[in-house]
Amino acid sequence: MTAPRTSIHGEWSTRLAFILAATGSAVGLGNIWKFPYITGENGGGAFVLVYLLCIACIGIPIMMAEVLLGRRGRQSPINTMATLSAEIGHSSHWKYLGWAGVLAGFLILSYYSVIAGWALAYAFRTGSGVFINVTADGAGSIFGRFIADPEKLLAWHTVFMVMTTVIVARGVRSGLEKAVRFLMPTLFVLLLVLVGYAMNSGEFNRAVSFLFDADFSKISADSVLTAMGHAFFTLSLGMGAIMVYGSYLPKDTSIARTSIIIAVMDTLVALFAGLAIFPLVFANGLEPGSGPGLIFQTLPIAFGHMDGGTFFGTLFFVLLVFAAWSSAISLIEPAVAWLVENRKQNRVYAAAVVGLLTWLLGLLTVLSFNLWSDVKPLAFVEKFQNSTFFDLLDYLTSNIMLPLGGLLIAVFAGWLMDRKATMEELDIHDHLHVGYRIWRVLVRYVAPIAVAIVFLKVTGILDVINNLF
Ligand code: PHE
Repeated sequence: MTAPRTSIHGEWSTRLAFILAATGSAVGLGNIWKFPYITGENGGGAFVLVYLLCIACIGIPIMMAEVLLGRRGRQSPINTMATLSAEIGHSSHWKYLGWAGVLAGFLILSYYSVIAGWALAYAFRTGSGVFINVTADGAGSIFGRFIADPEKLLAWHTVFMVMTTVIVARGVRSGLEKAVRFLMPTLFVLLLVLVGYAMNSGEFNRAVSFLFDADFSKISADSVLTAMGHAFFTLSLGMGAIMVYGSYLPKDTSIARTSIIIAVMDTLVALFAGLAIFPLVFANGLEPGSGPGLIFQTLPIAFGHMDGGTFFGTLFFVLLVFAAWSSAISLIEPAVAWLVENRKQNRVYAAAVVGLLTWLLGLLTVLSFNLWSDVKPLAFVEKFQNSTFFDLLDYLTSNIMLPLGGLLIAVFAGWLMDRKATMEELDIHDHLHVGYRIWRVLVRYVAPIAVAIVFLKVTGILDVINNLF
């Protein structure tokens, strides 16, 4: 039997529309800005390997679980969790999982928007030709001066938040679905052009070995947590973005195939970004671990020296903004969908409220790079001694909230939900279906246990337990 629910927010027009929207959510700053710099900070190959393993064994099964829950519940993640838990006779407290997701989305977007603002600013700068023949030092100092100016960061953050709010207010289908259809493939091609440039002008071999030679002595438990957290972040998992997109998914779409396509595309974009950036890092004597400014300090060098660089550079940053934009809307869609459902607010008002709150919280990130760069709110904890508000927001959301959310989603779909219901959503009619059995093992055992072990290890609890024996 099929669940008779339909979504009050409408449905995607086609399966392709869902793939594009979900890929739009997944592919964003996480792939092009964050993946390269955290790979640099965590020593390269071994980190990349752990990240890829997490995508395959934790990310894909949890993505399937999220889409499945969303499509069955057909509402915002908060109400979906409430409805589905009632359906199987479990506590309605599961709705707090939806709430935690709303909170995570709000916290993430507050800093995401500031960084997307950097990309916007860089589209204009590259267009103005300031990077022509720029040296590594020059690009570094332009970036340094830019982030030291809170007013500029605030202005660009404001522009990006307005852009995001407007699209969410209009409903996902009318604007972004169309834009993403054309923009994502273009971004992909442009990344390939950059990889081509890096192959010829940078230290490509060094970059390849940096990215793919795994030296496990370089990583710690914390790096493993970062890799795992990033797998959630980059696939938009653990906070309900994919769940809410799943709730608009037509009934006859294969969840497994779609999830795999999305994860593969997302991963390819990240790896290409790495292959475009690290050859330039090494050729210009830059530091791979130089943090969030990495792409803004390296790519302008490439654009400054290649033929047509001003054009390609501008196009690249414009596309990056679009990639960030299609991710940003999915970060607040769960909150907006809930306000529309429960408060009977119209979408425009709901989007404006959420947008304004996010904008305000974004001030913490704006200031983290300049006036408050010395403010270390958790300085009394050794690990966070040097962490600014931005660092803490990022750590809390990617490394704690998303994996924890994912763990609970896996437990819900794997242990609490009726086996028959999950089979029905995945369109499987045979108990012995190999794909289904693999999914079940991953979602019941592998994903939750892996997340739990990493948490226990990082918090030191695992060591305490080990010492007991
Ligand atoms: N996946 C997006 C990116 O990589 C970020 C994101 C995280 C979007 C969580 C939605 C939910 O940039």
